[in-house]
Amino acid sequence: MSSRYRVEYHLKTHRKDEFIDWIKGLLATPFVLHAVSHDEEDTEDLTTSQRVKSQYAEILKDIELLISNKIEFDARNFCNDENYLNESSLGRSRLNLLVPSIGTFFTPLPLEKAFLWEDSVKAISARRMVAPSFNDVRRLLNTAQIFHFIRQKRLGDKNGKPLRLVTFDGDVTLYEDGGSLITRNPVIPLIIKLLKANVFVGIVTAAGYDEAKIYERRLGGLLESVHHCTELTWQQKRNLTIMGGESNYLFRYYETAEGNEGDESFNNEDGEETENNQVCGFEPIDRSTWILESMSKWDGSDIQATLDFAQKTLKTLKKRLILPPEVTIIRKKRAVGIVPGRVIDPISGEEKVIRLAREQLEEIVLTLQSTLENYPPAKRIQFSCFDGGNDVWCDIGGKNLGIHALQQYYSPENPIDPAQTLHVGDQFAPMGSANDFKARLAGCTLWIASPEETVDALTRLTAD
Ligand code: IMP
Ligand code: MG
Repeated sequence: MSSRYRVEYHLKTHRKDEFIDWIKGLLATPFVLHAVSHDEEDTEDLTTSQRVKSQYAEILKDIELLISNKIEFDARNFCNDENYLNESSLGRSRLNLLVPSIGTFFTPLPLEKAFLWEDSVKAISARRMVAPSFNDVRRLLNTAQIFHFIRQKRLGDKNGKPLRLVTFDGDVTLYEDGGSLITRNPVIPLIIKLLKANVFVGIVTAAGYDEAKIYERRLGGLLESVHHCTELTWQQKRNLTIMGGESNYLFRYYETAEGNEGDESFNNEDGEETENNQVCGFEPIDRSTWILESMSKWDGSDIQATLDFAQKTLKTLKKRLILPPEVTIIRKKRAVGIVPGRVIDPISGEEKVIRLAREQLEEIVLTLQSTLENYPPAKRIQFSCFDGGNDVWCDIGGKNLGIHALQQYYSPENPIDPAQTLHVGDQFAPMGSANDFKARLAGCTLWIASPEETVDALTRLTAD
């Protein structure tokens, strides 16, 4: 069957989040049936809003219960191999039956409470013309996740599972696409607040470089602020890391003795000395100390063959899609990407970055992903293809592995639980076109749409 519906459905699934769409659909019913006031009187209008509000809240309470039911169900069935392998509906939670592509929930989500809070700020139930949207639901899920962690903080280590690790994507999450983390970025004091609360912080970015210099430049504002922060102990400062190239390069914050004069706790550290004369920076951490067992089994020749094949595919696509000659294919040790390049603007005479069309980017990333999925060496390792907004990359590894490696690296004796891990990122569209998506396999997530949203979420998360 190749009806238009089917073609469109298949070609757009990479952009849809089935769970969010499903919630949106459920909220559309009270909106359609009850968000209409036939009376012009103000009091009637208020009654309408209240009626719609309680119906939205009721639906969200039901979804909250379905999530809790799924968590219990999965916990039971993971312990029981027979049930876990059972494909029939008896072996699946009710939420899995309603939303087949649903992933794992590591924590319950107080959705009703989150809705009442969102509604008090955004007046969702007062809207008569615009139904609850994708972004309303995305923010609602974020708020519920934040409320969950605020509650865990209150319960403490003994009775709850407070946050232990927060990881951030770079571009669009901490700074604008292609930008840098400058000193006055309001996210910096919030990251410092996390460190101060003994939370481990990792920047898990696709941007992959095997040298610290570029990270030190792009994250210069954070580096400087952490260095000058007198409220952080040496150990707390050391709890800041960068996982670059998704899961390929690990760097950790350091200060030299000169940069830390008078701080006794520095002298008590595990005796690590750096040859560098720099006062502070990120030092590379030897791969053997943090790499996951599954990654260490990958064959170098499979990695090279996968990158060669991805490079060849990108070359073919550049030709097939008649992309401008300035568009360049970049090959790195652990990644290959296609980047737009620059041209002289005929009107202003200034140099500007070529903008690739959305359709071109999507065609490239989807072709790359599906080509590699069928390539035997690529099947033996893990890779991530994604559309970065104006470039497309294939990286070896993935953010799930990067976060998982941090969970073990920071706490080898007692690895950090996914239920105590939170990844903040902007790229959560389903597999094949976004790279934060895989972070969902390793912990809880916040799906933000701009650096401002990251600041807003962290402000609430770290509020005293
Ligand atoms: P993220 O949002 O922090 O994960 O960074 C994604 C962006 O990093 C991409 O859109 C690219 O522009 C840039 N980038 C630089 N080097 C690499 C690489 O080796 N792999 C993937 N992305 C890279
Ligand atoms: Mg990003």
